[in-house]
Amino acid sequence: MHETVTDQLNRPIKDLRISLTDRCQFRCTYCLPAEHVDVMRQQSKAESHLSFAEIIATIKAFAACGVNKIRLTGGEPLLRKNLPTLIQDIKNISGIEEVALTTNGALLPPILPDLLAAGLDRITVSMDAIEQSLFESITGTQFSVSEIIDTIHQCSFSGLKKVKVNCVIQKGINENQIIPLLKLFRGTGVEVRFIEFMDVGNINGWQADQVVESEIAKQRISKQWPFTALPAKHLGEVANRFRFDDGQGEFGMISSISQPFCMDCNRARLSAKGAVYTCLFSDKGHDIKPFMGQPDVLLKKVSQIWQQRTDQYSMQRKQNKSKHKNKIEMFVIGG
Ligand code: GTP
Ligand code: 5AD
Ligand code: SF4
Ligand code: SF4
Repeated sequence: MHETVTDQLNRPIKDLRISLTDRCQFRCTYCLPAEHVDVMRQQSKAESHLSFAEIIATIKAFAACGVNKIRLTGGEPLLRKNLPTLIQDIKNISGIEEVALTTNGALLPPILPDLLAAGLDRITVSMDAIEQSLFESITGTQFSVSEIIDTIHQCSFSGLKKVKVNCVIQKGINENQIIPLLKLFRGTGVEVRFIEFMDVGNINGWQADQVVESEIAKQRISKQWPFTALPAKHLGEVANRFRFDDGQGEFGMISSISQPFCMDCNRARLSAKGAVYTCLFSDKGHDIKPFMGQPDVLLKKVSQIWQQRTDQYSMQRKQNKSKHKNKIEMFVIGG
């Protein structure tokens, strides 16, 4: 029997985002900047990652508290071996309705058929530029952007329920990619979402003046293609969605800085080492690894963690009331 556990602000828990590894072959400037060698050294060894059995035990506990959606993330989740087996096992857990994956896309093509066969429902690929040199400077790699684009198209023909592209906009860096990205994916069924650059972690050097507010981006888009706002599909939806008036599909805006959405936040995050974070901006996680072999204790712990939750970091940031000093890094909890 599943019950819905709520937190101190009466928010149910619905969505568990699981980082399968904190390692990544990319060095995105806003997440894992290459110059932070010291932080890189803290990236964990494969041995310290949760086993699939531990992950499954944890999902069962979260499902019993009301979680119905799992998102696998990283670092780069495709660096973990045997992912299809894990996905198949997650899909068999009672209460879990959807499994999604967030990836940088580089390792996706050879494994895509197996992920689909295992029952993966949705994929989100992160891509901040379609111009090769800009893509290289943002991701710190020389990976071919046209290969990533081909992979995204391949995903959209594969039978997945949904394919999205996440683009983090940084002022003066990739603002000029908004229109080209939309031009590329309009009419293909792929939903591009523009994310306001956020102050996640401590190493990305975030400054408020590096953010392009969604309203500004929307104005630019509307000059090119008129669109209409869509109602939220479900409570706690992160993106505001818009439909092009010419019938060429939808795009989204994730506006954590200018329009925080903490009041409906129903997401928990599990790190690759087994700590639960109740906010993307948490200073500290709750280590639940020691309880993963005892289902009853694990369920009690998970339920307690959520019931005690009071997080609303983005709302507090907006009111200049946030006190967090040592925030968890994005590559540890994967967005
Ligand atoms: P689905 O509902 O599973 O499709 O996922 P989503 O819409 O939450 O999308 P995704 O997981 O791709 O999230 C997109 C991005 O939004 C993340 O990578 C984060 O950058 C940001 N985001 C997601 N959840 C939160 C959140 O709870 N708080 C804040 N501040 N940002 C979030
Ligand atoms: N601000 C906004 N989005 C970010 N992401 C990573 N770091 C940040 C940040 N500082 C996004 C990535 C990816 C997702 C996992 O999180 O682009 O799509
Ligand atoms: Fe890797 Fe994603 Fe972070 Fe880029 S944003 S460094 S792809 S985990
Ligand atoms: Fe949820 Fe924290 Fe993001 Fe607010 S800032 S929406 S509480 S994860």
